[in-house]
Amino acid sequence: MKSGYICSSIGKKQVMAISGLAWCGFVLSHMLGNLLYLVSASAYNQYGNAITSNKPVYYTIEVGLLITFLVHVIFAIWVSIENSNARPVAYAVSPSGKGAASFASKTMKYSGILIFVFLILHLIKFRFGTYYPFDLNGAEVRDLHRLMTEAFLGAGYTAWYLICLTVLGFHLSHALWSSLQTLSLLPSGKEKMFSCLSSIFGWAVAIGFALNPIIIYMRGE
Ligand code: HEM
Repeated sequence: MKSGYICSSIGKKQVMAISGLAWCGFVLSHMLGNLLYLVSASAYNQYGNAITSNKPVYYTIEVGLLITFLVHVIFAIWVSIENSNARPVAYAVSPSGKGAASFASKTMKYSGILIFVFLILHLIKFRFGTYYPFDLNGAEVRDLHRLMTEAFLGAGYTAWYLICLTVLGFHLSHALWSSLQTLSLLPSGKEKMFSCLSSIFGWAVAIGFALNPIIIYMRGE
């Protein structure tokens, strides 16, 4: 890939789109995996252990996530600085191609900043947080089920997650459609349908993630 291409306006947007799509895949699989919490402590901890026990694969995925995340953020800042220098009024296009930009598209920058802050705090709490031991058929594994339960018994922590997940819903709703459009993957005449599918994806991920905090808090286990 030539540096001239990456520095071009479309090149930067396509790099953002590809790195963003990789994260769309990750958040979907992460959300689905988290639902195992609702099955049982063993099921969830077994799943967590299965992901983390193959160290070469696990670290490769982590490094991949880190690189794609940093690339996405750096290019988002770059594009956004260029946009604000180039035109005082940003975001003129809506998913349907007509009329005013949607709320989600106008607020991508701000939702992105909040998701960035959320992610740092999230990793501190869950990825690098307390290690509780769990006996899984005689083998000791990390008790992520307990960690999650304790986290969402608190009203403040649960509310913070629900706010961030709402913002994530808006961000993803626009992101998927926008990435496909930037990569010219939208079949012509189907823009409206894909805009709708993108919203369904964004809100399904956000609601799927929100289930655990809501259920844990309401149960008050
Ligand atoms: C209620 C919502 C969520 C819950 C309960 C949750 C739970 C967890 C848990 C328990 C871990 C630790 C996994 C491990 O160390 O093996 C984790 C890691 C992680 N989560 Fe979440 N998560 C949620 C939402 C999100 C969202 C919205 C994102 C992204 C925007 C995200 C990104 C990550 C990342 C990047 C990791 C680190 C993966 C790794 O390196 O192992 N999570 N999450």
